[in-house]
Amino acid sequence: MSAALVQPAAWLRMKGVLHDLDRVKTPEAALDAMGGVLDLRAYDWAQAADAPLRADEIEWLTYATQVEWGTEHYFAVLDISRDPLVHRFLRVWLEQEVVHADLLRRLLAAHAVEVGPVHEARSKRLARWRGKQINRAARRVIGDDFFAVHMAWGAVNELSTQRFYGVIRSRTSNPGLRDILRDIMGQEALHYAFYRNVAIRRLTGNPRAQRIVRWALDKLWAPVGVGLKTRRDAHRIIAGILGNSPEVADQMDAQIDRMPGLRGLGLARRTLDRALATAG
Ligand SMILES: [Fe+2]
Ligand SMILES: [Fe+2]
Repeated sequence: MSAALVQPAAWLRMKGVLHDLDRVKTPEAALDAMGGVLDLRAYDWAQAADAPLRADEIEWLTYATQVEWGTEHYFAVLDISRDPLVHRFLRVWLEQEVVHADLLRRLLAAHAVEVGPVHEARSKRLARWRGKQINRAARRVIGDDFFAVHMAWGAVNELSTQRFYGVIRSRTSNPGLRDILRDIMGQEALHYAFYRNVAIRRLTGNPRAQRIVRWALDKLWAPVGVGLKTRRDAHRIIAGILGNSPEVADQMDAQIDRMPGLRGLGLARRTLDRALATAG
């Protein structure tokens, strides 16, 4: 791993992260601000171990750890772009996400919870190979608009992750978890900015791409982690985190629906309603 050990840009931390993203207007600017991986030595692990974690926090963070770790899986499935900018981003993205998993895993281990990877199971390795073939085939059929789907999809996933961590952070009484999530959220916000800005570039003035992306998100998208975990697992997590904060789903939709061609999509609210119906 060659990336330098740097924290997210200070201005992202000090202010409301998503408001400041309005300043990151291009994918190049997002990638420049992204820096390297977070430094595990920068956190007060004794404090993180001493303060308790609730049972629901342990469940949410276990899911998050496995999904962050599973970025290796998604990377293998999605790394089919020849765009050098996207190529460069995906490598930084993979490195940063895997360190997010390390941070959360270490926090959980301090609370005697051992989390193993789910993406190395044989069935998942097979799914990885199949996923890559499907994406290659889709790329051949759809052409370059396939990458608009990849980028818009990635934007939705990064935004969901960022907002989920935000809710967990606002509710926890563990100061160590708050510190870790503050920095992870800064990086998730920049991942989101990258995906979103590339998606907007590809969708602007391209009605065909807009139609395909809208259809794919509407019909094919599943919450972050589905595939590695079951849909039932995902619904339980979504209901647990957003059930008491439905306004967060609406805020997410306000962001997603501002991408060209996605007005009124309402993906986050629909997903929350479904999760609440399943979990209830
Ligand atoms: Fe992450
Ligand atoms: Fe991310």
